[in-house]
Amino acid sequence: MSVSYKELGLVNTTEMFKKAFAGKYAIPAFNFNNMEQMQAIVSACAEQKSPVILQVSSGARKYANQTLLRYMAQGAVEYAKELGWEKPQICLHLDHGDTFELCKSCIDMGFSSVMIDGSHHSYEDNIALTKKVVEYAHAHGVTVEGELGVLAGVEDEVSSEHHTYTQPEEVVDFVSRTGVDSLAISIGTSHGANKFTPDQCTKNADGVLVPPPLRFDILEAIEKEIPGFPIVLHGASSVPQEYVKTINENGGKLKDAIGIPEEQLRKAAASAVCKINIDSDGRLAMTAAVRKFFNEQPDKFDPRQYLGPAREELKKLYTHKVVEVLGSAGKA
Ligand code: G3H
Ligand code: 13P
Ligand code: ZN
Repeated sequence: MSVSYKELGLVNTTEMFKKAFAGKYAIPAFNFNNMEQMQAIVSACAEQKSPVILQVSSGARKYANQTLLRYMAQGAVEYAKELGWEKPQICLHLDHGDTFELCKSCIDMGFSSVMIDGSHHSYEDNIALTKKVVEYAHAHGVTVEGELGVLAGVEDEVSSEHHTYTQPEEVVDFVSRTGVDSLAISIGTSHGANKFTPDQCTKNADGVLVPPPLRFDILEAIEKEIPGFPIVLHGASSVPQEYVKTINENGGKLKDAIGIPEEQLRKAAASAVCKINIDSDGRLAMTAAVRKFFNEQPDKFDPRQYLGPAREELKKLYTHKVVEVLGSAGKA
């Protein structure tokens, strides 16, 4: 049986993005797959009064079950109220939807926003697919994110070479012909914890690897083409080196893990970028806490004992993101 997101107490992205644009901050879009991640996101955002987008990838949907995720999102709204957030501004968003059927199924199951990622199709096929999703979504009050330009893949060895930057000259045509509510662009970010190879980086005075800057010139050119239009940044994890260190000191083997420096995300948040996607940093925070726990207390086996500290570490991370990076704290 289908349900509208409104009945679940969720909101779409329209008001969130309008305010974020005017206020020069960005809405956090955090991925979740399980209860602990959801609790950490909601408690951090309720405490900081930050609007938030709970993101579900198709992999998350398979992993956790879409019915459970829908009730978890509804539960997130009630949990936020219990934590003292009178009018929670929580959006449930499909991350990287790849077919019309998947988007439709999510809309019918209570999602308030969907992404249709047609960026791997030809330009005209991307437009046709995105337009079809927009028509269905808008008839249900659901907002749609489209994508132009290709981000580097997570797995491929030469990840950062395999991208195509968004072409500013295409955005007006794409946005007007599809009717999307926001646009994900490619300006040098990529998914995962290995966003750059060491030889793409320079070293600062302390020997720390500094990745090449994002292409803010392309972002500015896009802003000029579609003034006032909400832009989305995927692949925006910073890959905190203290997590990488903790993981590797406790049995992990993460090599060349490099992310986007936070100053660049602050700069993006103050621009037309209204939504910043973060998943990998949460994975690193959880893994660091769990590895440390098991290394220090190998006799323990109660999941609450290791998932509890992982949840705490996640909450710390999300609080840091909304307060010190995206600027969304106090905006809800
Ligand atoms: O964009 C990718 C997100 O980090 C989701 O990752 O497909 O492994 O759930 P996933
Ligand atoms: P990260 O892998 O950088 O966290 O990006 C997440 C993302 O873009 C989800 O859509
Ligand atoms: Zn993404």
